[in-house]
Amino acid sequence: MQRATNVSVVLLVAAAMVAVAAAGTPWMDLSATPESRAKALLKEMTLDEKITMLHGSTGPYVGNVPANTRLGIPALNLNDGPQGFRDNAHPGTTTCWPSGLTVAATWDLNAMKDWGTAMGKEFYDKGANIQLGPGLCVARVPVNGRNFEYLSGEDPFLGYTLVQPVIQGIQSQGVLANAKHYVQNNQETNRSGVSENVDERTQFEIYYPPFQGALDADVGSFMCSYNKINNVYSCENNQTLNVDLKDRLGSGKRFFVMSDWGATHSTSINEGLDQEMPGGTYMSTKLKTAVQTGAVSQDTLDNSVLNVLTPLFAVGVFDSNNTNSISNNVTSDAHNKLARQLSAKSHVLLKNDGNALPLNKTIKNVGIFGAQGASSVTVHGGGSGSVVPPYVVTPMEGILAKMGLPPPPQPSKLPCDQCVYFADGTNQTEVVDIASKVDVALVFVSTTSSEGSDRPNLSLGNGQDELIDIVAARAAKTVVVATVPGAILTPWRNDVDAILVNFMPGQELGNAVADVLFGDENPAARLPLTFPNIDNEVGFTERQYPGLDNAAQAYYDEKLLVGYRWYDARGVTPAFPFGHGLSYTTFKYANLRSTGNAVSVDISNTGSRDGEEVVQLYLGFPSSAGEPPKQLKGFSRVLVSQGGARTVTFNLTDRDFSIWDTSSHAWKKVKGIFNVYVGASSRDIRLSGTLTVA
Ligand SMILES: *[C@@H]1O[C@H](CO)[C@@H](O)[C@H](O)[C@H]1NC(C)=O
Ligand SMILES: *[C@@H]1O[C@H](CO)[C@@H](O)[C@H](O)[C@H]1NC(C)=O
Ligand SMILES: *[C@@H]1O[C@H](CO)[C@@H](O)[C@H](O)[C@H]1NC(C)=O
Ligand SMILES: *[C@@H]1O[C@H](CO)[C@@H](O)[C@H](O)[C@H]1NC(C)=O
Ligand SMILES: *[C@@H]1O[C@H](CO)[C@@H](O)[C@H](O)[C@H]1NC(C)=O
Ligand SMILES: *[C@@H]1O[C@H](CO)[C@@H](O)[C@H](O)[C@H]1NC(C)=O
Ligand SMILES: *[C@@H]1O[C@H](CO)[C@@H](O)[C@H](O)[C@H]1NC(C)=O
Ligand SMILES: *[C@@H]1O[C@H](CO)[C@@H](O)[C@H](O)[C@H]1NC(C)=O
Repeated sequence: MQRATNVSVVLLVAAAMVAVAAAGTPWMDLSATPESRAKALLKEMTLDEKITMLHGSTGPYVGNVPANTRLGIPALNLNDGPQGFRDNAHPGTTTCWPSGLTVAATWDLNAMKDWGTAMGKEFYDKGANIQLGPGLCVARVPVNGRNFEYLSGEDPFLGYTLVQPVIQGIQSQGVLANAKHYVQNNQETNRSGVSENVDERTQFEIYYPPFQGALDADVGSFMCSYNKINNVYSCENNQTLNVDLKDRLGSGKRFFVMSDWGATHSTSINEGLDQEMPGGTYMSTKLKTAVQTGAVSQDTLDNSVLNVLTPLFAVGVFDSNNTNSISNNVTSDAHNKLARQLSAKSHVLLKNDGNALPLNKTIKNVGIFGAQGASSVTVHGGGSGSVVPPYVVTPMEGILAKMGLPPPPQPSKLPCDQCVYFADGTNQTEVVDIASKVDVALVFVSTTSSEGSDRPNLSLGNGQDELIDIVAARAAKTVVVATVPGAILTPWRNDVDAILVNFMPGQELGNAVADVLFGDENPAARLPLTFPNIDNEVGFTERQYPGLDNAAQAYYDEKLLVGYRWYDARGVTPAFPFGHGLSYTTFKYANLRSTGNAVSVDISNTGSRDGEEVVQLYLGFPSSAGEPPKQLKGFSRVLVSQGGARTVTFNLTDRDFSIWDTSSHAWKKVKGIFNVYVGASSRDIRLSGTLTVA
């Protein structure tokens, strides 16, 4: 009896404490809006507590803002990167996903959503609440070392559309996404010094739309970049931060801008920076002094704190009580399987003469050539976009498994019914011997890149073009599989039977490529950027790239003619065009028609298997508008069963018919006759018509 009484007394005291805490913490009222919760919390914060929210330090995460135990504000744990949780201290504890450019090649909104959701889950399970991604810069410069990270390829509409399900996926897991690098971080050469000099119309039409997509998906944060824009550093640029991002693009939404690491040059809160990341030293004691002296107003400080707090409430960071540790191993069979599916879906079939692919699993003699095939395999790029894989499935392993043969060391040196031979390419006699006797030669080539520098050129290097030449000259059938961080040159393209590109495919490369080579996956991916015939085919002058005076000044003289827009305007045929990618089946396009702004087309599968087609719609503006000849304004990846047909409808919006008007600083609908092109790539237009905008 005595004991029971004691217990109930203790319980009563505990209940009373909870009631007091609830009454004193209105920001924990789940029925209130995120903004009003943030405002309620702000009221209780001291000057020091506010400033703490705006300054990050390093360790254990890449960026850290300490918890506020007095008010119950969780620590902010920010981590790289755009294609998975980078954890070099606990290598192999996270999934090495395909990169941003890689999944972008799917042109598939469901794949983007799955990718974002799975990454968000791993961040949550690692105790992080901000993922430093996705990367969104439009690929202006083909050799840009970060192109592999960015999911826009060379098209603003592609980026605008693909980023939205990624952000929804990440943030559905209670983790804020971060749209980066805002903005014009379009080259790595002298990235911390270069001024990217660009006009307003080009910015709004080419470079801002992917960031607009992030806003439309309610992204919680942005990262300002290292470079200058029009001679003002990105993180202290009132024009790009306050005027363009917060006023014109963001109109009324709450989100915050954090600096890239080391990208601050002043206490730039008046210019639109909300939060400084390491190793900046401006937004702590210097900011406090600025507030005390009045150089920064109390309103400005409060507004930045609200910009940070509001999305944290919106995404659920305050309510989840995440106590996960960064040392957790967050991989899973389900994620390995998804990594394989996403990687397989990202394979672009550039060429397939005489139905060289798919291969029959009973094929007798297979030759695997190149270190990338088995002995030294690249699956990701470098820098903050890298993820240490828990394992890598090599192409050799994936192919042997698919053929039902034992894993390496494989039996090619022994008598065998079905033989898989391997030559890394260093011994030419061996290459010639094997190439001459196999039924199919699979040449695996690769090159990689990293933030901090651009690629020296678009060639594969390391004698890999020569290896392809030697094999193709002797083998009955030659298939090239390229793992690359962006566009490459393909001087051998006319000498081989088939070409597959998988960009930066992640840990499941071998299984994914085998799925495609042997036809378990019917490829449907499309190039998110142009593959040129030669280096610098677009004829950048030094003024344009890398820029004058040691890349101190890069001028966007090409204006809107980025990527395929330049090829169309100049009438140059690229090696492989934007939007290109083949399937193992074939599709027929028919019956292009429009009702109002809805454009429809019938797609039938005329080949021998089920398949997905990426139907693309390009608009040609009336010539008076001064736009490039053709611009992507719609796409849809649809499954059509063998012998079946489907109608695809694109609902064009006013924005699709608009240009950025620099006198009103707003979108302006163009009147007149538009050309409508529908096809399987930017250069495989199957049907065209016109639409009149009155
Ligand atoms: C980079 O840009 C800065 C100007 O911001 C310039 O002074 C410098 O010479 C450039 N080149 C290098 C290699 O730093
Ligand atoms: C920054 O932009 C805002 C508009 O968003 C404007 O009101 C303000 O005057 C600008 N500040 C500076 C220093 O140019
Ligand atoms: C988080 O903790 C609070 C306070 O202890 C509690 O009311 C709430 O239910 C918890 N939320 C979850 C998702 O566990
Ligand atoms: C993480 O877990 C996976 C199983 O999901 C395991 O294969 C892997 O070895 C683990 N990583 C480390 C570093 O222990
Ligand atoms: C694969 O080859 C075997 C034996 O030549 C043949 O029976 C089978 O039909 C082929 N499969 C396909 C899918 O072509
Ligand atoms: C190169 O390959 C040939 C044929 O397989 C072999 O006879 C020769 O020993 C190899 N040379 C070296 C240096 O390994
Ligand atoms: C071209 O780039 C590749 C790899 O990116 C490199 O190996 C090769 O040396 C470069 N070639 C020239 C001529 O710079
Ligand atoms: C286009 O609009 C029609 C009618 O409003 C709607 O049924 C359809 O789902 C829309 N299609 C797309 C792709 O948004």
